[in-house]
Amino acid sequence: MAFLGIDIGTSGCKALVLSDTGEVLATHTATYGMDQPHPGWTEQDPALWIEGARQSVAQVLQTVPADDITAVGLSGQMHGFTPVDAKGAVLRPAILWNDQRNAAEARDIVELAGGADALLALTNNQMLVGYTGGKILWMQRHEPELFDKVRHALNPKDYLRFVLTGEIATEVSDASGTGLFDVRSRTWCAPLLDKLPFDADILPPCYESAYVSGTVTAKSAELFGLKVGTPVIGGGGDSVIQTLGSGVAEPGVLQTTIGTGGILATALTAPEDNTGGRLQVFCNVAPDLWHGMGVSLNSGGALGWLRKTVCPDLSFDDMMQGAGEVPAGAEGLVFLPYLNGERCPHSDPSARGAFIGLTARHDIRHMTRALMEGIVYAFYDIYGLMAQMGIASDLIKASGGGARSDLWRQIQADLFDCPVVTTKGAAEGGAFGAALLAGVSKGAWATVNEAAQCCTDLTRQEPAAATQRTYRATFDVYADLYPALQPSFAALNQLGARS
Ligand code: XUL
Repeated sequence: MAFLGIDIGTSGCKALVLSDTGEVLATHTATYGMDQPHPGWTEQDPALWIEGARQSVAQVLQTVPADDITAVGLSGQMHGFTPVDAKGAVLRPAILWNDQRNAAEARDIVELAGGADALLALTNNQMLVGYTGGKILWMQRHEPELFDKVRHALNPKDYLRFVLTGEIATEVSDASGTGLFDVRSRTWCAPLLDKLPFDADILPPCYESAYVSGTVTAKSAELFGLKVGTPVIGGGGDSVIQTLGSGVAEPGVLQTTIGTGGILATALTAPEDNTGGRLQVFCNVAPDLWHGMGVSLNSGGALGWLRKTVCPDLSFDDMMQGAGEVPAGAEGLVFLPYLNGERCPHSDPSARGAFIGLTARHDIRHMTRALMEGIVYAFYDIYGLMAQMGIASDLIKASGGGARSDLWRQIQADLFDCPVVTTKGAAEGGAFGAALLAGVSKGAWATVNEAAQCCTDLTRQEPAAATQRTYRATFDVYADLYPALQPSFAALNQLGARS
C-alpha cells in the first residue's frame, strides 16, 4: 500500500507518496505566484493549483506507479474562498487566507449573530477577517451580479477534490475555517446561517476528514496519471492536518510552524471554550479530536522581507550566522512582526511592523536576531491565550522552513522553557499529514494516534536558564508595545490609505 498526499499551498503544490511504514517514497513541489491587486488583497487563480497538482503528481508517479496508490489525501491553504457556478466553472480568482479586504463584512456577521458572545456560543470561533464567511458576504455586496451565479463556495483543496472526483464536498477542519461551522457538534451552524443574507445551500456537504469523499474519475485519471477509481479522502486544512504530520495528536504538545506565516497549534480532546474568541478552535482530523491554534500572519516571511529590503547580498545562512554572533535580546532591540497586519493575539489588519530600540550600535546582525526573537515572542504571546485555557507546554515540535535553524529552535526552547524537537516528515508539511490520514482511512494505521507514531524525533534541544531570563524580560517589553502603538498604527494606516 502507498498513499498520495497533495497539498495546495500558498506558494506551490506539493505531492508526496508515503509507504505503509511511514517512509516518504517520492515528493515534488511545483511553485506558483499570488496576486495582490490592491493593498491588503491576496488572490490566486485556481487553475494554478490544478496545474501545480498535475505537475507534482506526474513527477511522483515516475517513482511510484499509479497502480500502487491505495488512496489520496488532500491538504490545502485554509479560508480560500473559491466560488464556482452550477457547472463547476470558477467565477473569480480565489480570495486567500491572508486577504484583509472584508473587515466590514466580518464585523457585520458578528452583529447579525447577535454580538461576539452570541457568535462564540454558536460556533466557538470569532469571525476573523481571514475566514471565508466574511469573504462570501463581501462578494455578495461588491460583485452582486457575479455572486448570483455562485452555486458552491469551496476551499482550495475542495476545489481540487471536485476536479479529481466530480464530488462537491468538504470536511470538518476546513469547514471550521469558514467561521460558519459549529465545531462543538461538527456540523454547519444552521442558527447562524439562518441569520445571513446568502443561501446556506452554497456550502458543500461536510464529512469527517478520513471519510472517502469520492474516487478519481476517468477524465481526471487522464489529466493526473492516476488510476480510475482511486479513493480520495476528505483530508484537512493545512494548518490542522500538518499537526498530524508533526506527530501532534495529544494535548500538552505544541507545534510551531515558521512558514510565510506562523502557527502555534495543539491537539485538544474536547472543543474547549474559546474564551474571547482570540484563538481558533477547530475540528481536528479524527472525530474525537479538536485543534487549538493561533496564527500570526508574519513569520518566516518577515525574514525574507528583511533580506530583500535591507541585505539582498546576504544569504539566509549568512543572516543566521550573523544573528548567532550577537547576544540573546539583540542588545535591547525588539521587532514587532506585524508587516501585513495581525490575526492573533491581536486581530488587527492595521497593525504594522516595527524595530523598537534602534541605536547606532545595532547592525544587520542585531536586526536579524531581533526579528527571529520577535517571531518567537509572537508565538509566546499566542501561548498566553492557550495557557489561560489550561493548555500545557511540555514539548514543542518545530516545523516549517524556520525549523531548519538551530538558533531559531533554541530561542523557542529557552523562551517556552521546554524541549524542542524536530520530527521525521514534518518538513513535508500538509502533504505528509494528508498521506498519513489516507493511510488511517485505509487501515494502514488503526488511529491517527498510531499514525502519529511514525513521526519520530530527529533533533532535540533543551532550554537554557541564562538566556531564558533575557528572553522573558524582553518579551515583557514586546507585549507592552502593541497596546502602546495601536493608536499610531491606526493613524498611519489612514495616512497610508490617503496617499
Ligand atoms: C490557518 C491559516 C493559514 C493558512 C495558510 O487558519 O490561515 O495557516 O491555512 O496556509
